[in-house]
Amino acid sequence: MTFIAARKALLAALAGTALIGIGAAKAEGTLVLYCSVQEEWCRPMANEFEKATGIKVAMTRKSSGETYAQIKAEASNPRGDVWWGGTGDPHLQAAEEGLTETYESPKKAELHDWAVKQWAQSKGRTVGIYAGALGFGFNTKQIGSRGVPEPKCWSDLINPKLKDEVQVADPNSSGTSYTMLATLVQLMGEDKAFEYLKALHKNINQYTKSGAAPAKATSLGETTVGITFMHDMVTMVVNGGPVKVVAPCEGTGYEIGSMSIIKGARNMENAKKFYDWALTPEAQKLAEAAKSYQVPSNKNVVPPPQSPKLADIKLIDYDFAKYGSSAERKRLLSKWDNEVKKLPK
Ligand code: G6P
Repeated sequence: MTFIAARKALLAALAGTALIGIGAAKAEGTLVLYCSVQEEWCRPMANEFEKATGIKVAMTRKSSGETYAQIKAEASNPRGDVWWGGTGDPHLQAAEEGLTETYESPKKAELHDWAVKQWAQSKGRTVGIYAGALGFGFNTKQIGSRGVPEPKCWSDLINPKLKDEVQVADPNSSGTSYTMLATLVQLMGEDKAFEYLKALHKNINQYTKSGAAPAKATSLGETTVGITFMHDMVTMVVNGGPVKVVAPCEGTGYEIGSMSIIKGARNMENAKKFYDWALTPEAQKLAEAAKSYQVPSNKNVVPPPQSPKLADIKLIDYDFAKYGSSAERKRLLSKWDNEVKKLPK
Protein backbone atom coordinates (compact mmCIF):
# COMPACT_ATOMS: atom_id res chain seq x y z
CA MET A 1 0.00 0.00 0.00
CA THR A 2 1.36 3.41 -0.86
CA PHE A 3 1.53 6.07 1.80
CA ILE A 4 -1.38 7.94 0.17
CA ALA A 5 -3.53 4.80 0.00
CA ALA A 6 -2.75 4.02 3.64
CA ARG A 7 -3.68 7.54 4.64
CA LYS A 8 -6.94 7.28 2.69
CA ALA A 9 -7.76 3.96 4.39
CA LEU A 10 -7.01 5.44 7.78
CA LEU A 11 -9.19 8.47 7.10
CA ALA A 12 -12.03 6.23 5.91
CA ALA A 13 -11.72 4.13 9.06
CA LEU A 14 -11.74 7.26 11.22
CA ALA A 15 -14.75 8.63 9.37
CA GLY A 16 -16.50 5.32 10.02
CA THR A 17 -15.77 5.54 13.71
CA ALA A 18 -16.92 9.13 13.77
CA LEU A 19 -20.15 8.18 12.05
CA ILE A 20 -20.73 5.37 14.52
CA GLY A 21 -20.05 7.88 17.29
CA ILE A 22 -22.59 10.34 15.91
CA GLY A 23 -25.07 7.52 15.37
CA ALA A 24 -24.83 6.48 19.00
CA ALA A 25 -25.30 10.03 20.26
CA LYS A 26 -28.24 10.47 17.94
CA ALA A 27 -29.91 7.30 19.15
CA GLU A 28 -30.35 8.98 22.52
CA GLY A 29 -30.55 12.49 21.15
CA THR A 30 -32.43 15.42 22.57
CA LEU A 31 -35.86 16.60 23.56
CA VAL A 32 -37.15 20.16 23.61
CA LEU A 33 -39.64 20.42 26.47
CA TYR A 34 -42.05 23.30 27.01
CA CYS A 35 -43.13 23.14 30.63
CA SER A 36 -46.07 25.06 32.13
CA VAL A 37 -46.07 24.06 35.80
CA GLN A 38 -43.89 25.48 38.55
CA GLU A 39 -40.16 25.64 37.80
CA GLU A 40 -39.59 23.51 40.95
CA TRP A 41 -41.45 20.63 39.28
CA CYS A 42 -40.29 21.25 35.68
CA ARG A 43 -36.64 20.79 36.64
CA PRO A 44 -36.87 17.32 38.24
CA MET A 45 -39.09 16.16 35.36
CA ALA A 46 -36.39 17.12 32.87
CA ASN A 47 -33.53 15.74 35.01
CA GLU A 48 -35.16 12.42 35.87
CA PHE A 49 -36.18 11.77 32.27
CA GLU A 50 -32.61 12.51 31.22
CA LYS A 51 -31.33 10.05 33.83
CA ALA A 52 -33.81 7.34 32.86
CA THR A 53 -33.18 7.53 29.11
CA GLY A 54 -29.94 9.38 28.39
CA ILE A 55 -31.94 11.79 26.24
CA LYS A 56 -30.76 15.38 26.77
CA VAL A 57 -33.63 17.69 27.66
CA ALA A 58 -33.72 21.39 26.82
CA MET A 59 -36.51 22.75 29.01
CA THR A 60 -38.24 26.14 29.00
CA ARG A 61 -40.82 27.16 31.60
CA LYS A 62 -43.62 29.47 30.52
CA SER A 63 -47.25 29.95 31.51
CA SER A 64 -49.99 28.06 29.67
CA GLY A 65 -51.33 30.95 27.55
CA GLU A 66 -47.81 32.05 26.67
CA THR A 67 -46.77 28.54 25.63
CA TYR A 68 -49.88 28.16 23.49
CA ALA A 69 -49.03 31.48 21.77
CA GLN A 70 -45.42 30.38 21.25
CA ILE A 71 -46.41 27.05 19.68
CA LYS A 72 -48.80 28.88 17.39
CA ALA A 73 -46.14 31.40 16.40
CA GLU A 74 -43.67 28.57 15.67
CA ALA A 75 -46.17 26.39 13.79
CA SER A 76 -44.44 26.73 10.41
CA ASN A 77 -41.08 25.90 11.97
CA PRO A 78 -41.71 23.97 15.20
CA ARG A 79 -38.96 24.18 17.80
CA GLY A 80 -40.59 22.36 20.70
CA ASP A 81 -41.31 18.62 20.95
CA VAL A 82 -43.55 18.21 24.00
CA TRP A 83 -45.74 20.66 25.88
CA TRP A 84 -46.06 19.25 29.38
CA GLY A 85 -48.29 20.79 32.05
CA GLY A 86 -50.43 23.85 32.27
CA THR A 87 -54.21 24.10 32.27
CA GLY A 88 -56.19 22.03 29.77
CA ASP A 89 -58.09 24.77 27.96
CA PRO A 90 -55.18 26.12 25.87
CA HIS A 91 -54.04 22.53 25.18
CA LEU A 92 -57.57 21.87 23.82
CA GLN A 93 -57.40 25.05 21.76
CA ALA A 94 -54.05 23.97 20.31
CA ALA A 95 -55.56 20.55 19.52
CA GLU A 96 -58.50 22.09 17.70
CA GLU A 97 -56.16 24.32 15.70
CA GLY A 98 -54.06 21.32 14.65
CA LEU A 99 -50.95 22.57 16.45
CA THR A 100 -50.47 19.26 18.25
CA GLU A 101 -50.16 15.61 17.25
CA THR A 102 -52.45 12.65 17.93
CA TYR A 103 -50.90 9.94 20.08
CA GLU A 104 -52.26 7.03 22.07
CA SER A 105 -49.95 5.93 24.85
CA PRO A 106 -49.86 2.34 26.10
CA LYS A 107 -50.10 3.96 29.54
CA LYS A 108 -53.58 5.32 28.81
CA ALA A 109 -55.23 2.33 30.51
CA GLU A 110 -53.70 3.38 33.84
CA LEU A 111 -55.30 6.83 33.82
CA HIS A 112 -58.36 8.20 35.62
CA ASP A 113 -61.48 8.74 33.48
CA TRP A 114 -61.12 12.53 33.58
CA ALA A 115 -57.66 12.27 32.05
CA VAL A 116 -58.84 9.93 29.29
CA LYS A 117 -61.87 12.15 28.65
CA GLN A 118 -59.51 15.02 27.93
CA TRP A 119 -57.74 12.80 25.40
CA ALA A 120 -61.02 11.71 23.78
CA GLN A 121 -62.36 15.27 23.65
CA SER A 122 -59.23 16.45 21.84
CA LYS A 123 -59.41 13.50 19.42
CA GLY A 124 -56.22 12.12 20.89
CA ARG A 125 -54.14 15.31 20.82
CA THR A 126 -53.86 16.01 24.54
CA VAL A 127 -54.13 13.97 27.73
CA GLY A 128 -54.76 14.74 31.40
CA ILE A 129 -51.73 14.55 33.69
CA TYR A 130 -53.17 16.07 36.88
CA ALA A 131 -56.25 17.85 38.25
CA GLY A 132 -56.67 20.72 40.68
CA ALA A 133 -59.40 23.04 41.97
CA LEU A 134 -59.36 26.81 41.70
CA GLY A 135 -59.68 28.86 44.87
CA PHE A 136 -57.88 31.54 46.78
CA GLY A 137 -55.73 32.08 49.82
CA PHE A 138 -55.25 34.92 52.23
CA ASN A 139 -52.50 36.10 54.52
CA THR A 140 -53.68 35.38 58.05
CA LYS A 141 -51.52 38.12 59.59
CA GLN A 142 -52.84 40.84 57.28
CA ILE A 143 -56.49 40.02 56.94
CA GLY A 144 -57.37 41.38 60.39
CA SER A 145 -55.80 44.77 59.75
CA ARG A 146 -58.02 45.25 56.67
CA GLY A 147 -61.11 45.29 58.86
CA VAL A 148 -62.78 42.43 57.00
CA PRO A 149 -63.78 38.97 58.20
CA GLU A 150 -61.88 36.01 56.77
CA PRO A 151 -63.05 35.70 53.14
CA LYS A 152 -64.91 32.47 52.33
CA CYS A 153 -66.68 33.26 49.07
CA TRP A 154 -65.99 34.85 45.69
CA SER A 155 -68.38 37.62 46.77
CA ASP A 156 -66.10 38.50 49.72
CA LEU A 157 -63.28 39.47 47.35
CA ILE A 158 -65.09 42.53 45.95
CA ASN A 159 -65.44 44.17 49.36
CA PRO A 160 -64.15 47.78 48.86
CA LYS A 161 -62.10 47.35 52.04
CA LEU A 162 -59.87 45.02 50.01
CA LYS A 163 -58.94 47.77 47.55
CA ASP A 164 -55.52 46.95 46.05
CA GLU A 165 -55.33 43.86 48.24
CA VAL A 166 -56.21 41.09 45.75
CA GLN A 167 -53.84 39.59 43.20
CA VAL A 168 -54.52 37.29 40.25
CA ALA A 169 -52.76 36.60 36.96
CA ASP A 170 -53.64 37.97 33.53
CA PRO A 171 -55.87 35.39 31.76
CA ASN A 172 -54.07 35.97 28.43
CA SER A 173 -50.77 34.63 29.71
CA SER A 174 -52.05 32.43 32.53
CA GLY A 175 -54.19 29.34 32.34
CA THR A 176 -55.04 29.72 36.02
CA SER A 177 -56.60 33.10 35.43
CA TYR A 178 -58.43 31.91 32.30
CA THR A 179 -59.85 29.10 34.46
CA MET A 180 -61.14 31.79 36.83
CA LEU A 181 -62.70 33.75 33.96
CA ALA A 182 -64.43 30.67 32.52
CA THR A 183 -65.43 29.46 36.01
CA LEU A 184 -67.14 32.73 36.92
CA VAL A 185 -68.99 32.80 33.59
CA GLN A 186 -70.26 29.26 34.24
CA LEU A 187 -71.07 29.95 37.88
CA MET A 188 -72.80 33.34 37.58
CA GLY A 189 -73.79 33.68 33.92
CA GLU A 190 -71.78 35.91 31.60
CA ASP A 191 -73.29 39.33 32.43
CA LYS A 192 -73.03 38.88 36.20
CA ALA A 193 -69.53 37.42 35.85
CA PHE A 194 -68.30 40.50 33.98
CA GLU A 195 -69.95 42.80 36.53
CA TYR A 196 -68.11 40.84 39.20
CA LEU A 197 -64.78 41.02 37.32
CA LYS A 198 -65.15 44.79 36.96
CA ALA A 199 -65.77 45.15 40.69
CA LEU A 200 -62.84 42.82 41.41
CA HIS A 201 -60.62 44.94 39.11
CA LYS A 202 -60.86 47.79 41.67
CA ASN A 203 -59.29 45.51 44.27
CA ILE A 204 -56.55 44.08 42.07
CA ASN A 205 -53.05 45.34 42.88
CA GLN A 206 -51.39 43.49 39.99
CA TYR A 207 -52.27 41.11 37.15
CA THR A 208 -49.25 38.83 37.18
CA LYS A 209 -47.92 36.86 34.22
CA SER A 210 -47.83 33.47 35.92
CA GLY A 211 -50.83 31.91 37.63
CA ALA A 212 -49.10 30.80 40.83
CA ALA A 213 -47.24 34.09 41.45
CA PRO A 214 -50.05 35.47 43.67
CA ALA A 215 -49.58 32.50 46.03
CA LYS A 216 -46.02 33.53 46.82
CA ALA A 217 -47.06 37.20 47.08
CA THR A 218 -49.79 36.24 49.58
CA SER A 219 -47.35 34.26 51.66
CA LEU A 220 -44.88 37.16 51.70
CA GLY A 221 -47.62 39.64 52.61
CA GLU A 222 -47.24 41.58 49.36
CA THR A 223 -50.97 41.08 48.85
CA THR A 224 -53.65 40.13 51.37
CA VAL A 225 -55.51 37.77 49.00
CA GLY A 226 -54.27 35.75 46.02
CA ILE A 227 -56.48 33.87 43.56
CA THR A 228 -54.74 30.68 42.37
CA PHE A 229 -55.28 26.96 42.23
CA MET A 230 -55.79 25.75 45.79
CA HIS A 231 -52.77 23.42 45.59
CA ASP A 232 -50.47 26.39 44.87
CA MET A 233 -51.59 27.98 48.15
CA VAL A 234 -51.09 24.64 49.93
CA THR A 235 -47.42 24.78 48.88
CA MET A 236 -47.12 28.09 50.75
CA VAL A 237 -48.68 26.55 53.88
CA VAL A 238 -46.31 23.58 53.67
CA ASN A 239 -43.42 26.06 53.44
CA GLY A 240 -44.61 27.63 56.70
CA GLY A 241 -46.25 30.75 55.24
CA PRO A 242 -49.09 32.50 57.14
CA VAL A 243 -51.67 31.44 54.56
CA LYS A 244 -55.17 29.97 54.75
CA VAL A 245 -56.54 28.16 51.69
CA VAL A 246 -60.16 28.65 50.67
CA ALA A 247 -62.57 26.69 48.45
CA PRO A 248 -65.06 29.45 47.52
CA CYS A 249 -68.51 28.91 49.10
CA GLU A 250 -70.45 29.49 45.85
CA GLY A 251 -68.55 26.67 44.14
CA THR A 252 -65.53 26.71 41.89
CA GLY A 253 -63.95 25.41 38.71
CA TYR A 254 -60.99 23.13 38.20
CA GLU A 255 -58.27 22.32 35.71
CA ILE A 256 -57.19 19.17 33.99
CA GLY A 257 -53.49 19.84 33.59
CA SER A 258 -52.50 18.42 30.22
CA MET A 259 -49.71 17.21 27.95
CA SER A 260 -49.46 17.39 24.15
CA ILE A 261 -46.92 16.46 21.49
CA ILE A 262 -46.19 19.38 19.18
CA LYS A 263 -47.08 18.88 15.52
CA GLY A 264 -43.95 18.48 13.42
CA ALA A 265 -41.77 17.79 16.49
CA ARG A 266 -38.17 17.37 15.34
CA ASN A 267 -37.56 14.66 17.93
CA MET A 268 -40.80 12.77 17.51
CA GLU A 269 -39.61 9.41 18.86
CA ASN A 270 -38.20 11.05 21.97
CA ALA A 271 -41.40 13.05 22.37
CA LYS A 272 -43.36 9.80 22.52
CA LYS A 273 -40.87 8.34 24.99
CA PHE A 274 -41.30 11.35 27.25
CA TYR A 275 -45.09 11.18 26.92
CA ASP A 276 -45.20 7.51 27.97
CA TRP A 277 -42.73 8.10 30.80
CA ALA A 278 -44.63 11.16 32.10
CA LEU A 279 -47.72 8.99 32.58
CA THR A 280 -45.91 6.40 34.73
CA PRO A 281 -46.34 6.35 38.52
CA GLU A 282 -42.57 6.94 38.94
CA ALA A 283 -42.70 10.18 36.98
CA GLN A 284 -45.97 11.37 38.50
CA LYS A 285 -44.63 10.85 42.02
CA LEU A 286 -42.05 13.57 41.35
CA ALA A 287 -44.82 16.13 41.92
CA GLU A 288 -45.06 15.50 45.64
CA ALA A 289 -41.30 15.76 46.11
CA ALA A 290 -41.45 19.13 44.31
CA LYS A 291 -44.25 20.24 46.69
CA SER A 292 -46.79 20.25 43.87
CA TYR A 293 -50.06 18.99 45.28
CA GLN A 294 -52.26 18.34 42.26
CA VAL A 295 -54.16 15.05 41.94
CA PRO A 296 -52.06 12.80 39.64
CA SER A 297 -53.78 11.23 36.61
CA ASN A 298 -52.26 7.74 37.00
CA LYS A 299 -54.65 5.67 39.13
CA ASN A 300 -51.73 3.86 40.78
CA VAL A 301 -50.38 7.02 42.37
CA VAL A 302 -51.83 7.90 45.76
CA PRO A 303 -52.37 11.68 45.83
CA PRO A 304 -50.18 13.45 48.41
CA PRO A 305 -51.99 13.84 51.76
CA GLN A 306 -51.77 17.63 51.39
CA SER A 307 -53.70 17.62 48.08
CA PRO A 308 -57.06 19.40 48.33
CA LYS A 309 -59.71 16.63 48.16
CA LEU A 310 -61.70 17.29 45.03
CA ALA A 311 -64.65 15.24 46.33
CA ASP A 312 -65.01 17.62 49.30
CA ILE A 313 -65.04 20.78 47.15
CA LYS A 314 -68.17 22.18 45.52
CA LEU A 315 -67.01 21.83 41.92
CA ILE A 316 -68.93 23.10 38.92
CA ASP A 317 -69.37 20.80 35.94
CA TYR A 318 -66.71 22.73 33.99
CA ASP A 319 -67.47 22.56 30.28
CA PHE A 320 -64.00 21.89 28.85
CA ALA A 321 -65.29 21.37 25.31
CA LYS A 322 -66.82 24.85 25.26
CA TYR A 323 -64.25 26.85 27.25
CA GLY A 324 -61.31 25.07 25.63
CA SER A 325 -62.63 25.83 22.15
CA SER A 326 -60.68 28.27 20.07
CA ALA A 327 -63.61 30.61 19.40
CA GLU A 328 -64.77 30.81 23.01
CA ARG A 329 -61.32 31.31 24.52
CA LYS A 330 -60.52 34.07 22.03
CA ARG A 331 -63.89 35.75 22.57
CA LEU A 332 -63.70 35.73 26.37
CA LEU A 333 -60.12 36.96 26.46
CA SER A 334 -60.77 39.87 24.14
CA LYS A 335 -63.94 40.77 26.08
CA TRP A 336 -61.93 40.75 29.31
CA ASP A 337 -59.22 42.93 27.71
CA ASN A 338 -61.78 45.44 26.44
CA GLU A 339 -64.24 45.52 29.32
CA VAL A 340 -62.15 44.83 32.40
CA LYS A 341 -58.43 45.35 31.98
CA LYS A 342 -58.82 48.73 30.27
CA LEU A 343 -60.96 50.15 33.07
CA PRO A 344 -59.38 52.81 35.23
CA LYS A 345 -59.25 51.86 38.88
C1 G6P B 1 -49.29 26.29 38.48
C2 G6P B 1 -50.17 25.18 38.98
C3 G6P B 1 -50.57 24.26 37.87
C4 G6P B 1 -51.18 25.04 36.72
C5 G6P B 1 -50.22 26.10 36.28
C6 G6P B 1 -50.79 27.00 35.23
O1 G6P B 1 -48.04 25.79 38.12
O2 G6P B 1 -49.53 24.48 40.01
O3 G6P B 1 -51.49 23.33 38.38
O4 G6P B 1 -51.51 24.18 35.66
O5 G6P B 1 -49.89 26.91 37.39
O6 G6P B 1 -49.89 28.05 35.05
P1 G6P B 1 -50.29 29.44 34.47
O7 G6P B 1 -49.11 30.30 34.77
O8 G6P B 1 -50.55 29.23 33.04
O9 G6P B 1 -51.52 29.92 35.19
